[in-house]
Amino acid sequence: MKKDLQQREHWSTRLGFILAAAGSAVGLGNIWRFPYVTGTQGGAAFLLIYLIAIILIGYPVMVTEMTMGKVTQRNPVGAFKKLAEDTSWYLVGGLGVLTGFVILSFYSVVAGWSLHYMVESITGLAAGADYEALFGEHISSVGLPIFYHAIFMFMTAAVIAAGVVKGIQKAVKTLMPILFVLLVILIFRSVTLEGAAEGLSFYLAPDFGEVGIGTLNDAIGQAFFTLSLGMGAIITYGSYLSKDENIGDNAAWVVGLDTLIAIMAGFAIFPAVFALGLDPATGPGLTFVTLPAVFSEMPLGSFFGFVFFVMLSISALTSSISLLEVVVAWIVDEHNWARKKAAIFMGVVIFLTGIPPVLGYGPWDGFEFFGMDILDTYDFFADSIFLPLGGLLTAVFAGHVYTARKLRDKANEVEGKIFVGDWFDPLIKYVVPIAIAVIISVNLYTVFIG
Ligand code: TRP
Repeated sequence: MKKDLQQREHWSTRLGFILAAAGSAVGLGNIWRFPYVTGTQGGAAFLLIYLIAIILIGYPVMVTEMTMGKVTQRNPVGAFKKLAEDTSWYLVGGLGVLTGFVILSFYSVVAGWSLHYMVESITGLAAGADYEALFGEHISSVGLPIFYHAIFMFMTAAVIAAGVVKGIQKAVKTLMPILFVLLVILIFRSVTLEGAAEGLSFYLAPDFGEVGIGTLNDAIGQAFFTLSLGMGAIITYGSYLSKDENIGDNAAWVVGLDTLIAIMAGFAIFPAVFALGLDPATGPGLTFVTLPAVFSEMPLGSFFGFVFFVMLSISALTSSISLLEVVVAWIVDEHNWARKKAAIFMGVVIFLTGIPPVLGYGPWDGFEFFGMDILDTYDFFADSIFLPLGGLLTAVFAGHVYTARKLRDKANEVEGKIFVGDWFDPLIKYVVPIAIAVIISVNLYTVFIG
């Protein structure tokens, strides 16, 4: 039975699509990574460079992926096959599927830590405890992290098994508004703490002294990661768009919402960190070490800690479903599997793939790859190499092979407020590939040589 004869599911409302794509974009990258990177790289100075990267690099690639999905109505592999028949370009789609698989395997482990802290906040975070040691204790154990990783993968697979409208769209329509409200509550709490002003000025006053080539690299990498670009997640979600949707506007909504939520996360975090006299530049530990300490000290801290980790877990779930959807859409479209079977099977395989990263902090902590533990190694290949490489190849394909001109004609087929004009061509043809080539080189250099 050829899949073409069957009706492909479509988002039933425009809002459904925008929330799904924004849900994919808004994730640990916004709430965990963006604030800690901003905290170590000059506050507002980083923010400024990041916004430029979002506009010059993020938006054009968002338009490209959405258009490729809408035009072809296929998963990433099928999309490249359809746009460039009898060539090897479909391998770029294949790289995307593989990347989604790898990212999800460790993303789910980190999301599991968030579930653990959510539960811990209910029973109360003790003031004055050594949160660094507690975090180390949790991740170096085996049972609990695997248990929460399993729960998280189960929830992800359950949403995907239920389908595009009844699963993904329904989940994001409930979860995204909740996430937003929780974030507003947290911002309100944070900025009204005594001593919050210092955090605000740190966040809003640029310190260009901290800015270097590494900052540029982090800003471009973050723009890519946070928008879920470079691996076909947006191609896949775009493939469920009906023919009468405009691209320029939808892409702007998704990019705008993601940026808004990242910036809001900074307002929830920095004022509170400063109010309690803690260091904003602790790096990756900001979420799991600094914040629990912050919550343990503030009035009604257990409640706000719970709110924070619920929010973090929701943001991770709306992202993880889009990662699994890429893998599932691929087997459903290209190998004619039933959606339910694909979701369950892939959910289990990805769960198993996530076990080594868990063990890497415990029994397998001897493992080392150029100084990285197992989770960091997965993360390095997926986020620092595969994602940028996928983005680079997608931009080269769209700009030079399919041609920028044809792509924007397709994007503009349905009229909206934003017209994808001539400005698009030099961005997708030159600016995006060159900027990404630079970050891949810097990433390879830092790990293997520097
Ligand atoms: N955008 C997600 C975040 O900010 C992470 C992510 C990167 C992602 N690539 C993705 C999510 C692809 C879904 C699909 O946390």
